Amino acid sequence: MDQHLQRRIQRYGWDRAAEAYAHHWHRPLAGLQRELLALAAPAASEAVLDVACGPGAMAAAAARAVGSAGRVLGIDLSEAMVQAASRHAAELGLDQASFARMDAERLALPDASFDLALCSLGLMYLPDPEAGLRELCRVLRPGGRAVLAVWGERALRLGAAVRHRRRRGAQRGLPAVLRSRPGRCAGAPLRRGGP
Ligand SMILES: C[S@@+](CC[C@H](N)C(=O)[O-])C[C@H]1O[C@@H](n2cnc3c(N)ncnc32)[C@H](O)[C@@H]1O
Repeated sequence: MDQHLQRRIQRYGWDRAAEAYAHHWHRPLAGLQRELLALAAPAASEAVLDVACGPGAMAAAAARAVGSAGRVLGIDLSEAMVQAASRHAAELGLDQASFARMDAERLALPDASFDLALCSLGLMYLPDPEAGLRELCRVLRPGGRAVLAVWGERALRLGAAVRHRRRRGAQRGLPAVLRSRPGRCAGAPLRRGGP
């Protein structure tokens, strides 16, 4: 599919879905997001980027973990998602969290400006996921961490198990958790995973 068209479908499709997504997927994804955050271990005063943050549940949890001396930026292609995430953080009084509409393939952010990057169920929607990974690595400081989850085949699952899904048995399309080692980019596992 034409990349421009794919981005427009993502942007305006998620605009329309934002409210229902926040409502219906909050609970089913809570376990996955807890798992990602446990792997990522955001620490007090760290700077965290949440790529394709959606309605902001994981960004809010990360903001609690980094505390008022830290900061969390959630970015998403969909304006409705950005607004939902901003409202959610404001309701929780999390001033250290902010949100912006941005394309994950073109982050308008300086090099080496984050300690930790998160991306939960966003990477597979990018027309060029490797460009997204390159951007994510670019904005991480040397030694920074990245934790990502994508939908994928059970057999290709890497990293930690996602327990709340595994118990249910036979579904395909289980979330795969990708974790980069410090200083390395998760591109190789992604390539192994295929399109
Ligand atoms: C399945 S939702 C995941 C939301 C959230 N991370 C979560 O775990 O609940 C996918 C998100 O990816 C966003 N997205 C899709 N393409 C994007 C892009 N090119 N750049 C940034 N965000 C994008 C969508 O707008 C949507 O909010």
